[in-house]
Amino acid sequence: MKLLDVSHAPIAHAPGPSYQDILDLDTGHEIPAALRYRNTVDLGVQPYRADRYTSVDFFHREVEKVWLKSWQFACREEEIARPGDTYIYEIVGRSLLVTRQCDGSIKAFLNVCLHRGRKLVNAGGCKDQFRCPYHGMTWNNDGSFKANPFEWDFPQIDAKAFSLPEAQVARWAGFVFVNFDREAAPLLDLIGDMPAHFDHWRIEDCYKAVHVAKMVPANWKACAEAFLEGHHVAATHPQALPFIACERTQYDLLTDHVTRFAGATGITGGLWEGPPLSEEQLVAAMLGSGSRAGKPGQTLQAALAPGETSRSYMANIARTALETETGYDFSHACDADVLDAISYDIFPNFHLWGGFPQKICYRFRPAGMNHEQTLLEVMLFKIKPKDTNPPPARMRMLGVEEPWAIATELGYLAGIFDQDQSNLAPIQDGLRNLGGGDIQFSRYQEMRCRNLHRMIDMYMSK
Ligand code: FES
Ligand SMILES: [Fe+2]
Repeated sequence: MKLLDVSHAPIAHAPGPSYQDILDLDTGHEIPAALRYRNTVDLGVQPYRADRYTSVDFFHREVEKVWLKSWQFACREEEIARPGDTYIYEIVGRSLLVTRQCDGSIKAFLNVCLHRGRKLVNAGGCKDQFRCPYHGMTWNNDGSFKANPFEWDFPQIDAKAFSLPEAQVARWAGFVFVNFDREAAPLLDLIGDMPAHFDHWRIEDCYKAVHVAKMVPANWKACAEAFLEGHHVAATHPQALPFIACERTQYDLLTDHVTRFAGATGITGGLWEGPPLSEEQLVAAMLGSGSRAGKPGQTLQAALAPGETSRSYMANIARTALETETGYDFSHACDADVLDAISYDIFPNFHLWGGFPQKICYRFRPAGMNHEQTLLEVMLFKIKPKDTNPPPARMRMLGVEEPWAIATELGYLAGIFDQDQSNLAPIQDGLRNLGGGDIQFSRYQEMRCRNLHRMIDMYMSK
């Protein structure tokens, strides 16, 4: 799929140093190409109708044109390590059996019995065959038809042609993607340099260390948009305002299907209304409220060296923590590599953070055919400690009334997700209230939200 026409005309940015200017301050390390990458685009200023989030009809068209046509992260390679291991991936009322084959390849089959349409497999696990619980028709785990207890009564069935329908499978960095559309362009053709960017951050060496999920009462796009821009920090996460210059976040388009932001930590932005903060006060603020480098409640251990910035001080803490945790040397990592908020997304619903510390990953799935409910999943990917092979975390499902804060495995992020979640039900309520009225995305900082809608429109127009 070709890059759509986008404008590269200069557009307004927040006053003050850019993200690239902030990178320039790190003179002791090489800044990787991934962070020097820039592709500002102008996706316009047109409004979008609020009923894109509330209309059943719009959702049904999304199902048909987006969910059944796009690449979606299904599971991790290590979750289906052995031949026969099967992960059930479900979305918009559809179900796939993502199954490891004897030759190590992975196939995805429609999870349905071709006799009378019963869901074929109720639960994932290691399977030597798929036997329907209703009348016992059975398929091999390569999808071919195996047995019919009443073969004499089905003269119309040609066993050789009675295989389970397949979806496409793609693999990248341990992530297994599926696409219901057998004609869809290959995933790797759509995501441009994103794999090259993540090679730098050692994505291939990561494992799924944490997986927490929760059902959220909002349309999937409203949920995804809560994580596609950085300037909500000012009002939603005000505790971070002293040390996150959220309005200086850089937004880029890599391909039609991939956008990203990169925002600096350890720099006070123009939205901070308190008194000027010393470098020590900045460090204390970061340590006290949690950041990529620290844990909440930590306090300043040693004074800053003369001329040392809070950013370089915190980066050193982060490098040391990574070295202790993994046994690898991170002295080459630049400050941004270990401190900054760098988040990519692959259209429509997969978000992955770059950088060397824990990579946050989000997935947003409509809950069955309910367009006003979303299964919001948060995963943390960490570099495996040297000479170890930790098992992937199992998903922990929070109750509807349970706060993210009880998921202590998320560390300082748990409280942040409760802040993010506090907007989601009210935004769905508000969108319903707007009816056929419009919402407004900003031109630059909400470019990634705009791209989400631009791509939905593109898929729907096909
Ligand atoms: S529906 Fe599956 S065997 Fe009858
Ligand atoms: Fe947030």
